[in-house]
Amino acid sequence: MINPEITWKGNTPFSVTYNDQYYNESDGMNESRFVFLDHNHIPEIWSDKNRDSIHIFETGFGTGLNFLLTFKSFLESAGTGQWLHYYSVEKFPLSISDLKKAHNSFPEISHESTLLLEQYAPSRGFNRIIFNKENCTLTLIIGDVQNQIQQVIASNDASRRFHVWYLDGFNPATNTEMWNPNLFNEMKRLSAPNATFSTFTAAGFVRRFLVESGFTVNRVKGFAKKREMLSGKFTDSNFYSEFQNEPWFSIPKSQHLQKSATIIGAGLAGCAVAEALSRRGYQINLVDKESDIALGASSNKMGIFFPVLQKKPTPTSLYSFHGYNYLLRHLEILQNHNLETGFQQTGLLQIIENEKKRERFISAFNNSDFNNDDLCMVSQKEIKNIAGIETPYEGILFKKAGYLSPRDLCNANIAMVKKRDTAFNFINNYQLSNIAYIENKWHLKNQQNNQTIFTDIVIFCNSAEVKNMPQMEWLPINHFRGQLFELTANSFSKNLKMPLCGENYILPEEKKSHITGATFDQVSDLNIRPADNRKIWNSISGMIPEIANSMPEINVELMPSKVGLRSAATDHFPIIGALPDQSQFLKTFSPLRHGELHMRRTLKNNFNLENCWFPSLYTLSGLGSRGILYSQLGAELLASIINNDPLPVEKSLVNALNPARFLVRSLRKL
Ligand SMILES: Cc1cc2nc3c(=O)[nH]c(=O)nc-3n(C[C@H](O)[C@H](O)[C@H](O)COP(=O)(O)OP(=O)(O)OC[C@H]3O[C@@H](n4cnc5c(N)ncnc54)[C@H](O)[C@@H]3O)c2cc1C
Ligand SMILES: C[S@@+](CC[C@H](N)C(=O)[O-])C[C@H]1O[C@@H](n2cnc3c(N)ncnc32)[C@H](O)[C@@H]1O
Repeated sequence: MINPEITWKGNTPFSVTYNDQYYNESDGMNESRFVFLDHNHIPEIWSDKNRDSIHIFETGFGTGLNFLLTFKSFLESAGTGQWLHYYSVEKFPLSISDLKKAHNSFPEISHESTLLLEQYAPSRGFNRIIFNKENCTLTLIIGDVQNQIQQVIASNDASRRFHVWYLDGFNPATNTEMWNPNLFNEMKRLSAPNATFSTFTAAGFVRRFLVESGFTVNRVKGFAKKREMLSGKFTDSNFYSEFQNEPWFSIPKSQHLQKSATIIGAGLAGCAVAEALSRRGYQINLVDKESDIALGASSNKMGIFFPVLQKKPTPTSLYSFHGYNYLLRHLEILQNHNLETGFQQTGLLQIIENEKKRERFISAFNNSDFNNDDLCMVSQKEIKNIAGIETPYEGILFKKAGYLSPRDLCNANIAMVKKRDTAFNFINNYQLSNIAYIENKWHLKNQQNNQTIFTDIVIFCNSAEVKNMPQMEWLPINHFRGQLFELTANSFSKNLKMPLCGENYILPEEKKSHITGATFDQVSDLNIRPADNRKIWNSISGMIPEIANSMPEINVELMPSKVGLRSAATDHFPIIGALPDQSQFLKTFSPLRHGELHMRRTLKNNFNLENCWFPSLYTLSGLGSRGILYSQLGAELLASIINNDPLPVEKSLVNALNPARFLVRSLRKL
């Protein structure tokens, strides 16, 4: 991530690289209002009460002035329950102090500025920020618009694509990579019918590209002394594109008639989905076979979270990086609502025990987008001061990470749901045994066959048990047993100030014991195995030899232990999205076995996707050992898919998480 080279004229930034101003030095606010809000009919656009959300895309976030003015207008005049989804792409994000300085010129938007600055911490790729009380999301995309816009996925329901475009780069003559033909081509893919646009420039090639992409373009009077600018509409229906993605990774448009969903499984996944959907106005039935929420794998007293560092960027490192930032913001929202999650932001140390790991971490560290406020390498000597306990190794310190209670996080999410007006119903002791789609509704039956639930949407958050449904037998997801135990603390171990993780982990003392864990075996046996405690203990003693010396008589086999079943897919990545009908999907996409080109030639883009996915059937499962980190952003992604909203993460991740990936892989292997 590169910060821009700027100078200041008073509180107005000026780009040295592009030799251009961010906005009019003497009247930036009125210029922004005139060029962008007025020509896109803001605030009138909020008065269309048929729209429950308005989607705006901006090129060039800069100081966020356009965003703040739009946000203010939305807060002043949007209808109840309406949402604003604002996307903005920025290659050179300003620092928070520069943003603050620029905003000082605009006391009228100080409230909105404060809300933005509280959460502004841009990192490469997609940053989904939620203004929960204000019904607004800002998806700040850091990177070059040319590449990043290709990663944006809007709905297959054209009316729920982007309704407004603010085209705000620097002068097209010098900022050529911004005003690239690719941008206009992607605008065509992402625009809702009648989407409007405006831009300060009247450059001929910009006008031509827009016309070629299906926009009606008007040259109109520019702001103040500027002669002309452009505004217009996406009117040519021949240009509407059907697909947002490769057809086999298509996100089927949700067809539900009512905003009512039934979630199976009340663990981290199910409770996070309930929160994200109720925020979008959905009525929720949350169903679990147990008597209360969070009695499955999510029942652990405490769990750790930190992002995964990998040698080269992979979907796992990218998703865990976004998931981490998103979770931290979500925890802050919960905290602002006085909801307890037991979150201890102590920082977390990952120990580097061998040369191989060291090499991996160093390249990962160098490749990562974390700055020194988030992450740093620490020497063996420093660890004693930082963590309170000595180890023979060096490590990586995740400064904002820590541990929390999964059970409390589940409860906090449900408390958020209950604060909203939407209906919420927890159905306990209900073990789902089969589902059938009859006359546009799903009929759910339990094992005793004494209570049928009728619902529009079903979401499987029941871990590996999702594949007990005949429709999902093919999903390659399995149970992985995990055991942990509570180590009685002594005067030495009490000095530990933060979780230490190597092959296993140990948490700081709480109520006279340390949680230490966890094993990972592909079996589903729930009996406690004393030998597993010994394995964990040997690994902890290797990490902290002094702890073993301080407890010579210890009998870890007898310490209180707990076993749970996590679920993981064969590729150890979560499964998030719409569930395909295996036989129909394999039939439709069978030409894929001869390659994508063959597929496209054979079907000439006439894909009949109709029955490839079950109607309104979804899953969020396979969270493995990272349920805390993966569940919140996963729920936000799934809720966006269900509500036909633009998606909060990159297309590359949406595809990597898509349940259809296993079927696509099986075809490619044939
Ligand atoms: C020992 C151990 C230590 C761990 N440590 C950590 C850690 O430190 N950090 C971390 O991030 N993660 C950790 N994890 C992983 C984390 O706990 C899981 O990833 C997470 O809890 C999974 O959440 P879930 O909602 O998908 O599944 P679960 O919490 O298992 O929820 C699934 C729910 O579905 C219900 N259900 C299943 N089938 C049906 C049905 N047919 N009808 C109705 N209900 C049904 C179950 O009763 C259950 O409540 C650990 C796991 C274990 C076992
Ligand atoms: C005129 S300023 C935008 C002003 C902004 N809308 C505001 O409200 O403050 C143009 C912005 O485009 C960004 N930019 C330039 N080239 C880019 C590119 N290729 N991709 C993404 N952003 C780019 C610049 O860094 C700059 O912040």
